[in-house]
Amino acid sequence: MSPLSNLAMRDVETLVHPYTNLDAFRQAGPLVIERGKGVFVYDSEGKGYIEGMAGLWCTALGYGNEELVEAAAAQMRKLSFGHLFNGRSHDPAIELAEKLKEIAPVPISKVFFCNSGSEANDSQLKLVWYMNNGLGRPAKKKIISRINAYHGVTIAAASLTGLPNNHRDFDLPIANVLHTASPHHYHAAQPGESEEDFATRLAHELDELIVREGPDTVAAFIAEPVMGAGGVIVPPKTYFEKIMAVCRKHDVFMIADEVITGFGRLGTMFGSTALGYAPHSISVAKALSSAYLPIAGVMIPEEMYQALIVESRKIGVFGHGFTYSGHPVAAAVAVKTMEIYKRDKIFEAAAARAPQFQKRLMALGDHPLVGEARGMGLVGAIELAGDKRAKKPFDPKKGVGAAVVRNAEAEGLIVRVIAGDIISVCPPLIIKPAEIDELFDKLGRALDKTLDWAKREQLLAA
Ligand SMILES: Cc1ncc(COP(=O)(O)O)c(C=O)c1O
Repeated sequence: MSPLSNLAMRDVETLVHPYTNLDAFRQAGPLVIERGKGVFVYDSEGKGYIEGMAGLWCTALGYGNEELVEAAAAQMRKLSFGHLFNGRSHDPAIELAEKLKEIAPVPISKVFFCNSGSEANDSQLKLVWYMNNGLGRPAKKKIISRINAYHGVTIAAASLTGLPNNHRDFDLPIANVLHTASPHHYHAAQPGESEEDFATRLAHELDELIVREGPDTVAAFIAEPVMGAGGVIVPPKTYFEKIMAVCRKHDVFMIADEVITGFGRLGTMFGSTALGYAPHSISVAKALSSAYLPIAGVMIPEEMYQALIVESRKIGVFGHGFTYSGHPVAAAVAVKTMEIYKRDKIFEAAAARAPQFQKRLMALGDHPLVGEARGMGLVGAIELAGDKRAKKPFDPKKGVGAAVVRNAEAEGLIVRVIAGDIISVCPPLIIKPAEIDELFDKLGRALDKTLDWAKREQLLAA
């Protein structure tokens, strides 16, 4: 292993890195990214990479967009900070909320702003609890999430997340959070079970869970239209229509976590539209500002808003909100982002490129290292398998996914290993056809190189 540069040494001595093996990192050191343009980023040595993950599923418009830079600078000059507490307001927050109401896939009454996807989902949970108190049903408080879901890392959001590392030794989940099965046909379907039958079984399991817990105690169901960090899991056909029917039957509020899938990722403006269902409320973040500044929101329906009013009549102040809720600079950048999406028909263009992206992605499913290739729109994953026929993963300790990421980096491509040995791909929506080909050419070579190594190490099933 080459010695760490001065910058890398300073990093190791100063930072705790999110989602990093903190022990191994002390030897490996960081990949320091210095600048970006379009879909490319460049490290501190000047090496270029296709940002195949749009940062963290977020930089929809890519890097170096001068209009967004200018929107931020102009707003900073005009009003660098303003808050929404105690009835104060400012233009950018009002305009952004109007735009979100306009494009919402379901009737939305109001928007509550916050700074991250985690805060949005924490707020969702608090709003549901508050609403049900307002509606006079204080026992209806349990929230159902799913195994493999990713909803963030704050205490409530991490509890909703259904991944072991987000719970283990953090003493989570908190009370009132339940997890139902992951809708992953590849692993969880019974032999010969069709997608539709699998969806029916999952809906039946959900129904049983709600009945067992008592419908009067179950408040909400939260789901990403397509699971992201849990492995880019596309639900089986008819899943949401069947899940929605169960929720309706038991008066369970449906929350769509559109933190990744919002704003064109799945080929439609919102992912829930692509998956054919209508949630009650929606969490948005990431591509809301194309990640130029942190901003997120909860899109609130009228019935929930009315219940919040009831609570205010009783209690007075609505005791929730962040210093930076609706920060004017972040909101101004998000308003500009929305304008660019519409003016440049970004979602339509992304949808038009999806077939090429999915074709190249699915072709990797034939690679000897890959158990399943899956995706939708401009997001996808390849799940590595040590035994392709038996759908068995590699021993996680062998670091096969990490080897693919390293080999991709050597090729000039950034991808990410998530939820075991699953390689995710989620480029900026502005990626061009030639860049899609370049991305998958690089990923293919990285897989080949990893395969050679895995064979030498005898990691594949005979
Ligand atoms: C679907 C989903 N929800 C919530 C979050 C949490 O967002 P944040 O990291 O901004 O707190 C993420 C982050 O990746 C996400 O993918």
